[in-house]
Amino acid sequence: MKNIILLGPPGAGKGTQARSLSDKYGFVQLSTGDMLREAKKDKSKLGLKVSNIMAKGELVTDEIVIDLIKKKIINTTNNKGFIFDGFPRTLAQADALGNLLNKVNQVLDYVIEMYVDDDKLVQRITGRFSCSSCGELYHKITKIPKKTGICDVCGSIDKFKFRQDDNEDSLKTRLLAYYRDTSPLIGYYYALKKLKKVNGLGSINEIQDAIRNIII
Ligand code: AP5
Ligand code: MG
Repeated sequence: MKNIILLGPPGAGKGTQARSLSDKYGFVQLSTGDMLREAKKDKSKLGLKVSNIMAKGELVTDEIVIDLIKKKIINTTNNKGFIFDGFPRTLAQADALGNLLNKVNQVLDYVIEMYVDDDKLVQRITGRFSCSSCGELYHKITKIPKKTGICDVCGSIDKFKFRQDDNEDSLKTRLLAYYRDTSPLIGYYYALKKLKKVNGLGSINEIQDAIRNIII
């Protein structure tokens, strides 16, 4: 069992890699962004509460995301380990994760920092779309569906959607939040001897190989 964090700015490829590694090796992907978007889609009380914050690109409160992760960690048994995608994002969240894993007698194995230039991040974010049926991620230049309008993974037709926060204004706020609140985690995990770095500029497959060489 391995527990891994993918750490990186918006568009670094965390979701792309977490999804694919989970499919191949049986990890459980825990993406707080996906969980919050689900809550928004269901129009739950939580969804309504976070909707505006997410659209602007600001961070939701530590309390909300820690509670989501806590429920998943406690209710998931018998897994090959977790891949955390987009969590933790603050030092308080990192501390909470350490405590939660401790409680269930697990440890954090690796924190993989995926670094990508800001220019490239803008290109990635502004070209992203996904399948609303299965969640597969695509890009209008770097990862287009094999047949126009049809999802490669689940075969849904014309179900592609864009994210509400994938616009220039929101991206600026998301990047700022990353450098201000999340990037201190790089030093934190370096000090804990958990940090590994992967160049996030290669192709999706090259990056996957680099991550696999670290974790498998
Ligand atoms: P979240 O959903 O986590 O968004 P994010 O961190 O901004 O990251 P992204 O999902 O945008 O990027 P990614 O790294 O997953 O890239 P992807 O693989 O999609 O969070 C959204 C919001 O929720 C936050 O702003 C906040 O409000 C809230 N939130 C979530 N978690 C929180 C927390 N813990 N605390 C507080 N608030 C929280 O790739 C991007 C694109 O590039 C895709 O189109 C993909 O096909 C393409 N691509 C990927 N890799 C490559 C490659 N190697 N080469 C070419 N193209 C590539
Ligand atoms: Mg993502």
